[in-house]
Amino acid sequence: MFYNHRMDAKTRYAELVRELNYHFNRYHVLDAPVISDAEYDKLYIELKRIEAEHPDWIATDSPSQRAGARPADRFDKVRHPAPILSLANAFGADDARAWFERVRKLDDRVEKAKFIVEPKIDGLSVILHYRDGVFVQGATRGDGEVGEDITSNLRTVKTIPLRIPVSSDQSSVIKVPNHLVVRGEAFIPINDFEELNKKLEEAGEKTYMNPRNSAAGSLRQLDPKLTASRPITLLVYQIVHAEGGQVPTLQSEILQYLRALGFPVTDVAKRFDDIESAIAYTERWDKKRDDLPYEADGMVIKIDDLNLAAELGFVGKDPRGAIAFKFPAREVTTTLLGIDVEVGRTGVLTPKAVLDAVEINGVIVKNATLHNFDYIAEKDIRVGDRVLVKRAGEVIPYVIGPVVDARTGKEKSYQPPSACPACGQPVEHFEGEVAWYCVNAACPAQLVRNVEHFVSRGAMDIVGLGIKIVEQLIEAGLVNDVADLFTLTKEQLLTLEGFADKKAENLLGSLEQAKRQSLNRLIAALGIRGVGEVSAADLVSHFGSLDALSTASANDLQQIEGIGPNIAEGIVDWFGRPANQKVLKKLKTAGVWPMMQKAEGRRQEGVFSGLTFVITGTLPNWSREEAKAFIESNGGKVTDSVSKKTSYLVLGENPGSKFEKARSLGVKVIDEAELHRLTM
Ligand code: IVH
Repeated sequence: MFYNHRMDAKTRYAELVRELNYHFNRYHVLDAPVISDAEYDKLYIELKRIEAEHPDWIATDSPSQRAGARPADRFDKVRHPAPILSLANAFGADDARAWFERVRKLDDRVEKAKFIVEPKIDGLSVILHYRDGVFVQGATRGDGEVGEDITSNLRTVKTIPLRIPVSSDQSSVIKVPNHLVVRGEAFIPINDFEELNKKLEEAGEKTYMNPRNSAAGSLRQLDPKLTASRPITLLVYQIVHAEGGQVPTLQSEILQYLRALGFPVTDVAKRFDDIESAIAYTERWDKKRDDLPYEADGMVIKIDDLNLAAELGFVGKDPRGAIAFKFPAREVTTTLLGIDVEVGRTGVLTPKAVLDAVEINGVIVKNATLHNFDYIAEKDIRVGDRVLVKRAGEVIPYVIGPVVDARTGKEKSYQPPSACPACGQPVEHFEGEVAWYCVNAACPAQLVRNVEHFVSRGAMDIVGLGIKIVEQLIEAGLVNDVADLFTLTKEQLLTLEGFADKKAENLLGSLEQAKRQSLNRLIAALGIRGVGEVSAADLVSHFGSLDALSTASANDLQQIEGIGPNIAEGIVDWFGRPANQKVLKKLKTAGVWPMMQKAEGRRQEGVFSGLTFVITGTLPNWSREEAKAFIESNGGKVTDSVSKKTSYLVLGENPGSKFEKARSLGVKVIDEAELHRLTM
């Protein structure tokens, strides 16, 4: 009786291991679960109960063993059953054709060869051993002969099957060799990588430079629990060794075979009848590489017939039967020669990297963004450092971080300026914001952008005063602040290039008309940090005049709905500056001093009325506040989190999880330039 019960429990245990592995794979590899999470949990609890009662029964391929191991002291060495080869590179189509010619000359069967093209994932090569279908060992590539035993870490990778074939219904069809060794590339998907870095940063820990480093760092450390907490996955593409069983001899069939066993396999791989079509496919992916959820540094073109490929032999460690068609690099290292600081319209100071000129993907890059001063400090970027710079797609090149190992000791830590580099006035920092500001309205660097904003359509709407003329006026010394516009004379305008009677008269006419613009517009035009048309309208409703507004305290201001402490402080600060007071006085004298009109004060309707926006990442030209003010000035609303109700996600550089969420909800994603266009 007792004997029978024991047998039953043991059979049940084996059944549970098999079933759980099957459902685990359906969930993590195939994205097609057939039972609910709750049902899975129930089976898992049953398994854990049996394992607690019979620790000696615990199977190597039990799902409970994925994260059970204790940290190791060091990695053991593993000798690979066959050399783990590398690949020769081809840079561009002609290089790939030259490779084809070379191998064709060696063996004329290549003439009729078929090719398979696979993505070349920029990750960490891993070698997985299965004995009698059970995952028993996993190793890094090492020197190609001997690698490191990272079995406990790899066991935590959810997409690695602990037993193959995963599905029991495949076992009748597929006979798995007794010893099967497969090779794949382990990596962290780009979105997960960004999220991981964000989390590390929040925890005050060191961030990773790129997904490759983060995958390698997570696998080549001694604590499996840490590996388990990292979003590592892999794609398998090669059979390194098979003993006691047949495996296919075409690469295209190998991929199908591996997939049938339950391994994650790329669905981007494709077979071609000739080299030209294979090259064309590769080039298509070069343009679409951002559509891949992982970092790919190229495509691999392989001769499909693996026997033929093997007969071609090797050059060093590179097999002749395949070639890595590299995409143009988007990340390069160069020297950071210095850090310049630029001043934007609202006075935001932006650090800009001055680089030792370097070519990235066909463009010479001399400057790159460093985002903000906090970024420089967090990444410990020093002047003189070798830095990794990325230039991808339409995004402005940016500095990823320093190559710490290349330091000579001569690099200099960077101190943000305490004074504005253009006007010398002290810079200021506002709580809750990363940016530093020059708050001097008469700052020459801000002047052009300030005047531009003042005369723009959403502000004073001065017709006939484009950026060119603004620049001319400032260059000629005729305009030193926005108030000077209203005292311009015809004689002065005629001294400017391109101005004749008519043009000068027209401009003076527009300026005269602008004096009658509404108070809402004038306040929005002043360029007070965080005050766009919508806030301006609220301020007008409340205060009724510039005189009243100019003496308001931060407390008074915060009584208004929609005016938070930051904007309130920005307003008080703006009116407290002597230079701004001077501008106001000049405006009053020039007769630009509107009072609230009857219809004024209400929130303005605009092209964005009824639309909700979420902003994520760093925008190329605008701060968050500026983008928000722009949206609000066009009647739109800005919220913090993405939902189905979000109309647009405005995407900047280094976006967070909001981007993923927007994509999953089908929310329209736009960039800063598109946001602009929507209002035109
Ligand atoms: S084939 C004989 N296929 O790229 C087999 N390699 O630069 C040689 N890699 O060391 C490798 N994706 O780590 C192959 N689909 C793929 C690959 C791939 C990434 C890596 C691999 C290799 C390196 C060569």
